[in-house]
Amino acid sequence: MAAQRRRKAPWRDRRGQFSWFKTATLVGCAAPASVVAFWLVTHQLGGRPVKATLLWLGLWTVRFILLALAITPFSQALAWPGLTVIRRMVGVTAAVYALAHLTLYVIDENLRLGFVAGEILRRFYLTIGFVALLGLAALAVTSFDAAVRRLGRGWTRLHRLAYPIAVLALLHFFIQSKAAVGEPTVMAGLFLWLMAWRALPVGWRGRLWVWPALALASGLGTAAIEFAWYAIATGIDPWRVLAANETLRFGLRPAHWVTLVTLGLGFALAVGRAARAPMPVIRPRRA
Ligand code: HEM
Repeated sequence: MAAQRRRKAPWRDRRGQFSWFKTATLVGCAAPASVVAFWLVTHQLGGRPVKATLLWLGLWTVRFILLALAITPFSQALAWPGLTVIRRMVGVTAAVYALAHLTLYVIDENLRLGFVAGEILRRFYLTIGFVALLGLAALAVTSFDAAVRRLGRGWTRLHRLAYPIAVLALLHFFIQSKAAVGEPTVMAGLFLWLMAWRALPVGWRGRLWVWPALALASGLGTAAIEFAWYAIATGIDPWRVLAANETLRFGLRPAHWVTLVTLGLGFALAVGRAARAPMPVIRPRRA
């Protein structure tokens, strides 16, 4: 029993041995929470520290959802199946951060549970945030080996919910950001890139031209998402927002960021794959 518990410790691999990779991931998952806890105790979060902490944790929930979704494509692109050992940890981290985000919202509302429940029912952005949180919780509690065995094929179907959950989380982020949608637009563009990669025919995934093509398509898609948001949800002229992408006078726009970041990621993944490929065996010629 003790040996079994030892094997299940998140910093150990399946054989129960200490894993540097899993330990580093664990530290990375705890880092944003540790940073905000430090700011909180050293009074660096301004006049509404609880609100500032809840915003920070919400932001990191979205980032961890995207990171969890990136692990399978990255492991395939790098031809490195071992990368998937951290997927569960990153996914569970997203659920824990989301739960902490909700808890801080309740604290910020002076623990008035009835009021919070009413707000979740009344405000659309809170309703979809809550549905996303329930979804994340369902995925987290069924991510352990016993649940994978018990659910069989249903497990894969259930865990495909990660994509609609990501869409709901992004929508929640967009709606509460109102007109300042720079970061949610970048996140949505990166999500689009991941989805586009998954939609590629398997035979294309190892090809070099795929990366710049995906980066360009994701950049254009990001501009389209931004245009649609301004057209549907704000009174701001979407054509002026779209035109801002043609110049760098206003600094880098979300579409530029997504193109550059995905180009860089594609380059890193292509180099990583080449570095992992086995060296060809060169046999000496017979004289
Ligand atoms: C997976 C679930 C969720 C995710 C990914 C998420 C993410 C986020 C993000 C990214 C922000 C904006 C952070 C920023 O502006 O820096 C935010 C704000 C917020 N979220 Fe969530 N959230 C989730 C669920 C919830 C739930 C269940 C509630 C409460 C019922 C909630 C309440 C709020 C509130 C009150 C704000 C701040 C709005 C304001 O500034 O007025 N969220 N959330």
